[in-house]
Amino acid sequence: MDTGLLETSPVKLGDKGLHLGLAGGAASYFNYYWLRDNCPTSFDSQTRERVFDIFHLDSAPAPEQAAVVDDALEIVWKGDGHKSRYPLSLLEQYSGGKPRHDPADLPRRPWYSDHYAAIARFSQPELLANQSTVAKWLEALIVEGVAIVTDMPDSNEGLTELVRLMGHMRPTFFGDYFDVRTHIKPTNLAYTAKALELHTDTPAEEMAPGMQFLHCRANSVEGGRNLFLDGAAVANDLKTEFPEDFKLLTETEIPYYCEHDTYDVRSRQRVIELDEHGEVSGVTISQHMADIFDLPQTFLDRYYPAFCRFGRMLQSDKYLMRFTLKATECIVFDNHRIVHGRAAYSATSGDRYLRGCYADRGEMRSTYRALTSEGRFK
Ligand SMILES: [Fe+2]
Repeated sequence: MDTGLLETSPVKLGDKGLHLGLAGGAASYFNYYWLRDNCPTSFDSQTRERVFDIFHLDSAPAPEQAAVVDDALEIVWKGDGHKSRYPLSLLEQYSGGKPRHDPADLPRRPWYSDHYAAIARFSQPELLANQSTVAKWLEALIVEGVAIVTDMPDSNEGLTELVRLMGHMRPTFFGDYFDVRTHIKPTNLAYTAKALELHTDTPAEEMAPGMQFLHCRANSVEGGRNLFLDGAAVANDLKTEFPEDFKLLTETEIPYYCEHDTYDVRSRQRVIELDEHGEVSGVTISQHMADIFDLPQTFLDRYYPAFCRFGRMLQSDKYLMRFTLKATECIVFDNHRIVHGRAAYSATSGDRYLRGCYADRGEMRSTYRALTSEGRFK
């Protein structure tokens, strides 16, 4: 059969796969199932989904013939005679067995108490008008975990429009939005003028929301400074200074809860979270939602000192950024990395109103990739 394949190919057929010489390296090995499954014809160019179903092969795929032609590997398969053509550039990407390059997998840049002046700032109308500004905003959120959006309109829609640049609103068991409001006579004990200890939001949920938005609509009270810190920066210092404590906090799941008459939300979370590279990605911490630790008491002999050491580090002046969010500003931050709280304020001194909501981190990264990279189908 004349397949048009070159005689002098660098392809060696094996039992379960083939060896192929790729530019700048020793022979690379590719499994026949992988090759058959990922023939470029397996993907529909319109839906961009895989339309080939490898579960329906009658027998293990094997080549009738294979050779490099120009800058592609060509295979004619036994059985149905299907012909596949793989650009060598595609094969080079997958020859090492390494995870696919992810443009949203950017190294985190730790920050400390002096970060306020350097926080990335973006104007809301500019974000709405310019997609390249949206990409820079999302990049700041991935790298530093926090950004301030300025020039917000004094409306509910202004916040909704901002969230939609990143993805969908992500409800929690509090609903779509929450309002942190204090008037001269507060009616809701949950929203008093008392100090709010350092925390990440809703850790009792199985998957706590990823990105948090706090839109400041009014702030004329005395006191009530915002407290923000980079939990990843603190966790990395703990790793250097007290590696045993760090290990305990990364490995141990502790219980969190949120319970009232009609709900009983529970989860178990690690205080320090690691990413797929083993690097600190963030923290989950909340004293008011930590349940009674149901761990062996002798284990707690070791765990509590580590937990308290980390909790004290979080409050250190080295990390705590103190500032006052102004009306027309919206602070956006990674709820799995950035720990936040609030100093006490005088409820009789004026108005304070924050409207908040959440979005999903995976969806934010998806938007960032779509704005900045080629993808496989463009
Ligand atoms: Fe909060």
